[in-house]
Amino acid sequence: MNSNENKMGRREFLQVGATLGAAAGLGVAVAAQESKTFGRAVPVVISSANGLRATEKAMHLIRAGTDTLDAAIAGVNIVEEDPNDITVGYGGLPNERGVVELDACVMHGPTYRAGAVGALQNIKTPSKVAKTIMDHTNHILLVGQGALDFAKMYGFKEENLLTDKARELWVRWKENLSPNDDWIGEDQRGFSRPTGTITCLALNEKGDLSGCTSTSGLAFKIPGRVGDSPLIGDGLYVDNDVGACGSTGRGEAVILSSGSRIVVENMRHGMSPEEAILDVLKRICRYTSETRWLHSPGKPKFDVNFYAINKKGDYAAAAIYKGSKFSVHDGLRNTHKDSGYLFEKA
Ligand code: GLY
Repeated sequence: MNSNENKMGRREFLQVGATLGAAAGLGVAVAAQESKTFGRAVPVVISSANGLRATEKAMHLIRAGTDTLDAAIAGVNIVEEDPNDITVGYGGLPNERGVVELDACVMHGPTYRAGAVGALQNIKTPSKVAKTIMDHTNHILLVGQGALDFAKMYGFKEENLLTDKARELWVRWKENLSPNDDWIGEDQRGFSRPTGTITCLALNEKGDLSGCTSTSGLAFKIPGRVGDSPLIGDGLYVDNDVGACGSTGRGEAVILSSGSRIVVENMRHGMSPEEAILDVLKRICRYTSETRWLHSPGKPKFDVNFYAINKKGDYAAAAIYKGSKFSVHDGLRNTHKDSGYLFEKA
């Protein structure tokens, strides 16, 4: 029995192995077949499930010759500006004090440059601010007031990002936090916190790669909390020689695993995108040891999703638990696909 089997239990380990084999086979077969249709690397854009409009937009721009990073950002901007997506940009769920704080990063493969913002208030499109940091400074990450001052200096307009929909969800969460406070909620057992983020990775016909990740972060977070999304190597990583990876889901787990960077390194060492992702997801499960985070040994209470693409145009997405989808424009069509996974939900 190897160390993985020791920590997960043999039966669960075999389930993971079977899923890994089946899912990896399927993911690679689908991607390879479509790449072969063209006989070369084709433009491909992948994104999280909420990014179907992003993949459409980015593919349209790439076909028109737009740089892969500008294309990915333009796709993400659609979701950042959409008040109906309560996990990203305008309309995103606020922190525990009712203030929307946004995290985002961008990475440009051909020049190996990046920019990022953390805990940015009042600006609808943090990904554009991240790109401005990349283009106009020697820094990569600006946070809080400094990020806001920087954005205003470059002409970004301050706006109230808290929509009525997000405010009402925040109030419901606050009223139902505890039976031992003075708020009267309908359901004192608690109110689950919605999660979400967008990541978008783009590959053009020259083999150039870029990516962008953007989020309002963990709903009702402690003010100032920054997750994986603005951290290069965690919420996003691009190596123009190898591939790109982005993440959504429980940011702290992605930070601890340096998730996106390790997925790309796995691809560098020959793994397919799906094998590379599932390897990191298994590590996250293996190293999650605190009981408050676990349903049972090796099965976290949170989920993590990675989305990866290699330089040839093979792509995949996978999560810890079954049920996630991702968006892909593979040069032929723009669609949702099922993500791979390690476990069925309990
Ligand atoms: N992955 C988004 C966050 O945890 O903030």
